[in-house]
Amino acid sequence: MSIQDTVDEMAPLRPENRHGTDPLMVLNGIRQEFPSSRGRTVHALDGVTLTVERGETLGIVGESGCGKSTLARAALLLRRPTSGEVFFDGKDALSMRGGALRSHRKRAQMVFQDPNDSLDPRYRVQRSVAEPLRAAGVSRADAAERAMAALAQVGVPEDAAWRHPHEFSGGQRQRIAIARAIATEPELVVLDEPTSALDVSIQAQILNLLLELQERQQLTYMFISHNLAVIRHLSHRVAVMYLGRIVEVGPAADVLANPLHPYTTALISAVPEPEATKRERIVLTGDLPSPASRPTGCAFASRCWLATEQCRTEAPPLTTTAMSEPGSGHLVACHRPAEAQEALASGLQLTA
Ligand SMILES: Nc1ncnc2c1ncn2[C@@H]1O[C@H](COP(=O)(O)OP(=O)(O)O)[C@@H](O)[C@H]1O
Ligand SMILES: [Mg+2]
Repeated sequence: MSIQDTVDEMAPLRPENRHGTDPLMVLNGIRQEFPSSRGRTVHALDGVTLTVERGETLGIVGESGCGKSTLARAALLLRRPTSGEVFFDGKDALSMRGGALRSHRKRAQMVFQDPNDSLDPRYRVQRSVAEPLRAAGVSRADAAERAMAALAQVGVPEDAAWRHPHEFSGGQRQRIAIARAIATEPELVVLDEPTSALDVSIQAQILNLLLELQERQQLTYMFISHNLAVIRHLSHRVAVMYLGRIVEVGPAADVLANPLHPYTTALISAVPEPEATKRERIVLTGDLPSPASRPTGCAFASRCWLATEQCRTEAPPLTTTAMSEPGSGHLVACHRPAEAQEALASGLQLTA
């Protein structure tokens, strides 16, 4: 499949994308293998293809170990994938070197779950926030000024600049890490579980800050979380990952209100309801299979209540189905999407 076919198939229905799509980023067939103990290979990413549209939040959801952080690192060229392609603004990012790579890095930044991963404890906050600007060749004086502006945007007190990370609470530290990510005025920010380590009361404040920044600076987000409630709150489109693959992707309203993969259905049914609505829960038994011994058929078959012989032997491709809203880009990798959809009709109440 060519890149244009990939893009055409995955483009959502936003008006500007109906004809001739122009995504900010295209990930094509990304594989990431790691050697594991006993000479086996861990397939952390097993052919991930995704587009990230300009100005959207693409939510990526899946349980721990499914490859979300590995995907983030590949997308931002923090680790070269074993194979596959990364296109950013139409350009092949994996072939960039030297100055081209430096200016690319300015345009795509990352926020980690643990702010300590991007803030050096020995440095004053201003230096950490200015560091990506310095790396991009901005003069010391300009970088310092822009770091102060970024800190003002995330709402930390002005004197924070002269203090060290350990003097702040977890929430304030994450604000500072966000300031560092936006200081270069990037187009894309990849957020890898940015609120998962924070108190619930602080999580909402950080999510609201991210929404404000997105609107103010027209940021594109790839937002990674194992928490579907958070994904639902922020995302325009949602991609569901399972064992190194995308199993369902599409506009958030379609994927969350009309899930076609049994795994998505199970994730949704596990989200606690705000009111005491009666709803049957699907409880997944068993663990994620090991990415070092991927089953031949559908990786979800071992936990799926709909699995047949075909599911255990033949891996389903990620594709549109008769149940997808036409032209929506709602794709699913399942042999039995109609039955998965019926699971909802029979007792499960889902809200998007
Ligand atoms: N550097 C690494 N070396 C070996 N295995 C790794 C490495 N990074 C990740 N993995 C493995 O790849 C899989 C996906 O990990 P990860 O991307 O961190 O998942 P997630 O972020 O969804 O929890 C896991 O099985 C993990 O153990
Ligand atoms: Mg992770």
